[in-house]
Amino acid sequence: MAGVSKAKGRKATLRSLAKINLDLRILNKNPDGYHELRTVFQTISLADTIDIDYQNAQRREISIQDPANIADNLIVRAANAVLDELRLGGRLHFSLEKKIPMGGGLGGGSSNAAAVLLALPVLAGRHIPLERLTAIAHGLGSDVPFFLHGGTQIGLGRGTELYRLAELRKDPVLLVFPPVQVPTGPAYQALGRSLTFTGSSSSINSFQAFVWALEVRRSAAAASELSANDFESVVFTQFPQLSQIAARLRKVTGGARNAGVRMSGSGSTVFALFESEEDRQRAISSLSRDRAMRGCRVIQASLVSRGAYQRMWRRRLSMHLDPKDNSWPPRSRYER
Ligand code: C5P
Repeated sequence: MAGVSKAKGRKATLRSLAKINLDLRILNKNPDGYHELRTVFQTISLADTIDIDYQNAQRREISIQDPANIADNLIVRAANAVLDELRLGGRLHFSLEKKIPMGGGLGGGSSNAAAVLLALPVLAGRHIPLERLTAIAHGLGSDVPFFLHGGTQIGLGRGTELYRLAELRKDPVLLVFPPVQVPTGPAYQALGRSLTFTGSSSSINSFQAFVWALEVRRSAAAASELSANDFESVVFTQFPQLSQIAARLRKVTGGARNAGVRMSGSGSTVFALFESEEDRQRAISSLSRDRAMRGCRVIQASLVSRGAYQRMWRRRLSMHLDPKDNSWPPRSRYER
């Protein structure tokens, strides 16, 4: 039936990875009310799955099947932003399978948005230069530009001024997501930073020491003794379960060489990094009967480098990509 094949859309199944913050320092508040930060972002193997189906059409129709029923889903906002940029219509259907906990400081919504920014131009047979794509990402949220590249990156400013770091070892990580939602705005306010915060220079110095250790040791677990997350002091006070989880993780990783425990973003996920799989399995079995873990999701993942992230993207989009092109973002075979 010719009619059916003509109406067939271009489809892809995307993996939208989570991130953790290996380090996060909050400096002064800026006059616009946002805070200046220093962070190291890291993609991890925990991922949502997004099925995307695109059909060329005059009118714009976007639908999403989302069992989590996320209000004002960033996937739809990202799709509208791409179609606006390309001045295109299109019939688009998304189906989202959520594995990344929401409100956990793992960047799930931002990653979903970046997935659409990378995939939709390819399916639509158009190209958006990286500079424009980055500006669109910025407009969708502070963590979105990071997910256009993945791997290990320093984020400055609001986290949108990005610098790549050398690839790290694929250290195993254990994530503990408690049944607690930490609202981001109040967490920033609780830090009480002023326009003239005087702790910035010592904070920047110790951040740089951590980054240097990462560059030299090439392992987030091995460098983690120098890491920090400024939100931990205020968030742990407000949500004692998080503080208990971090203490238990520290205890069970205590025997392991070079294991580190940190909170991601403004919470509520607390993670532990290990140098070996044996160390992680030992920690999991000691935690299994622990009362502080009640109601928590415990998730095993590993660090994903920028190279592996970009290879994954090319694989996922392979049937729609120009096989001769090796640039980033990947280019569509349907471009004219
Ligand atoms: O980025 P997101 O929309 O999650 O931020 C929520 C709130 O956190 C913002 O409205 C702002 O009050 C605060 N924030 C901040 N400085 C940043 C990022 C967020 O003060 N760099």
